[in-house]
Amino acid sequence: MSVNKEELFDKVVNLSKRRGFVFQSAEIYGGFRSTYDYGPVGVLLLRNVKEQWWRSMVQFRQDVVGLDAAILSPPSIWEASGHLTNFTDPLVDCRECGSRFRQDKLEDLNSCPSCGAKSSFTEARQFNLMFKTNAGPVIDSAAEVYLRPETAQGMFTNFMNVLNTSRKKPPFGIAQIGKSFRNEITPGNFVFRTREFEQMEMEYFVPPADSDTWFEYWCKERLDWYLNLGIREDSLRLRVHDADELSHYSRATSDIEFSFPWGWDELEGIANRTDYDLNQHAQASGNKLEYNDSGTGERYVPHVIEPAAGATRTAMAFLMDAYEEEEVNGEVRNLLKLDHRLSPYKVAVLPLSKKDELIQPSKEVLDLVQPHWMCDYDQTQAIGRRYRRQDEIGTPYCVTIDFETLEDKAVTVRERDSMEQDRVPIKELVEYLSSRLIP
Ligand code: GAP
Repeated sequence: MSVNKEELFDKVVNLSKRRGFVFQSAEIYGGFRSTYDYGPVGVLLLRNVKEQWWRSMVQFRQDVVGLDAAILSPPSIWEASGHLTNFTDPLVDCRECGSRFRQDKLEDLNSCPSCGAKSSFTEARQFNLMFKTNAGPVIDSAAEVYLRPETAQGMFTNFMNVLNTSRKKPPFGIAQIGKSFRNEITPGNFVFRTREFEQMEMEYFVPPADSDTWFEYWCKERLDWYLNLGIREDSLRLRVHDADELSHYSRATSDIEFSFPWGWDELEGIANRTDYDLNQHAQASGNKLEYNDSGTGERYVPHVIEPAAGATRTAMAFLMDAYEEEEVNGEVRNLLKLDHRLSPYKVAVLPLSKKDELIQPSKEVLDLVQPHWMCDYDQTQAIGRRYRRQDEIGTPYCVTIDFETLEDKAVTVRERDSMEQDRVPIKELVEYLSSRLIP
């Protein structure tokens, strides 16, 4: 049963709240607008998205190392990077109703989407998106610091530290996952655009002459990552930026876009940042930021290819793409057909009944599988309802302990998508699941 696009958004938002993926932040105080908290299953999904990114970008590669840089940073970094001057959005106000909009996101420059007034917008003014705060007890301009609006600058400012300690040489990359903050004028569409979000970024430093080749390489590599994790091919596309869309640092950018309920929108940008950032920081700090090959005497400032993805936004896309409804025995079954690597729980252990004689063996089965995978344990309600609950949070395998288990020392394993069941001896259970739950 296909879910129509208009309904999909509401259904996924509703499921997120109902099943514990995403909650409105500060809900008990009426909610803090456009800010979200990740609940018991949401935090697992988000961790799995980040883990899969880390595995493919760092663990499986010898040419990429990791970093975890500070979120608070001095103005000098953002002055050099160009963000203090250029990281702005054009802001307009409606003179009639006072609503504020990003001018570049308005469909009709002459009509207010809130009140419908015509020609009511003020002149656009540039609004800087960085959050500013103060470090220490004295509130003056010398104590001003910024919350990073992208993780990327930590990789540039640590370029020499990493080069000198990691024994890497171009082409090589520095990867980082972490929170970024932007004072978005129009946050919205659930967790798609928020003021606090998580990014997964990698700066890949290459010999200047090779930058176009590496740009193509990373566009393909990153598109394949989403496909490999189960996003449907027709839900994804690569869109090349027009010249007037390019960020101040970019020579070329392509976006990986996802078909959201409101249309195509960005999941990740892959940019050729050239030697812009390293040169800017070298000039501003007075430190040389370049690669020096002691063998050949070759010396140059590498160019940078940057695949920059949003972890929170990507988690939402995985949820939207995996949501399905099926009719089973005259009832609607909601399920998340998530790739098992992303599923919050890999295994649910379910005693058929709450009777004492089933609880002990169920706890033993849980003890057996829990060290290997994130497991849920549920002994409430009828078994059918518990299966439905696990389907809806994307758990690929349910293991049921029944009265026969006491005799045959075997359990029933039910697979989420096919609903097929296998009887598996307990002593073979870990091996059975291991052959299906590839990390
Ligand atoms: N370092 C380059 C950079 O930050 P970006 O296109 O501005 O590029 C990269 O951001 C990714 O971060 C985006 O593709 C998106 O997935 C995510 N992102 C950016 N702003 C966001 C926001 N306000 N809320 C959620 N995710 C955001």
